[in-house]
Amino acid sequence: MQDYQNFLAEVLIDEKTLQKRVIELAAEINRDYQGERILLICILRGALPFMVDLMRQLTVPNAIDCMAVSSYGAGARESTGNIRVTMDLQTNIEGKNVLLVEDIVDSGHTISRVLEMLRMRKPKTLKVCVLLDKESRREVAVPIDYKGFAIANKFVFGYGLDLDEYYRNLPFVGVVDLNRYQGVG
Ligand code: IMP
Ligand code: MG
Repeated sequence: MQDYQNFLAEVLIDEKTLQKRVIELAAEINRDYQGERILLICILRGALPFMVDLMRQLTVPNAIDCMAVSSYGAGARESTGNIRVTMDLQTNIEGKNVLLVEDIVDSGHTISRVLEMLRMRKPKTLKVCVLLDKESRREVAVPIDYKGFAIANKFVFGYGLDLDEYYRNLPFVGVVDLNRYQGVG
């Protein structure tokens, strides 16, 4: 049994609500890219479950690739503008319709730097799909084309989002009670 009950403050978005929203986002994407092909880019690791659920609802022909970035010079729970690519794409994105898939936008630094890097590779189009948006935390403006949910400034986990790398598998998004979360091990 998993031990998250000890520090789960509340279930913010339950499984049914997540899955319903994913279907709605996929419908929008299917409509917008009618007659086109797309390349989904998953930003590892948080966006994995979201991208997998999303791609299964797509009817527009799609390929996938993944990239990983890490931000340094910051604490584990916040990012700065210093983003390093730790795993690059396998795909040449030039001339392609690229849809970046991310779990959450917080300060906006991560997405903003990734977009800058990808733009230099001359995709045909470049759009952003994010599951969660902590709007009040934004430090740099980022264009979000498809948004799952706007959420308050609370630390969340589950459905891809981790707590010290654990709990990404949970089917819901929960709020952490930081007073009761002791860390792992
Ligand atoms: P940004 O660069 O500040 O927008 O940070 C985005 C990244 O921070 C996300 O990709 C997540 O990895 C992480 N992050 C921000 N807020 C949370 C949260 O509430 N739970 C888990 N990870 C988060
Ligand atoms: Mg992430």
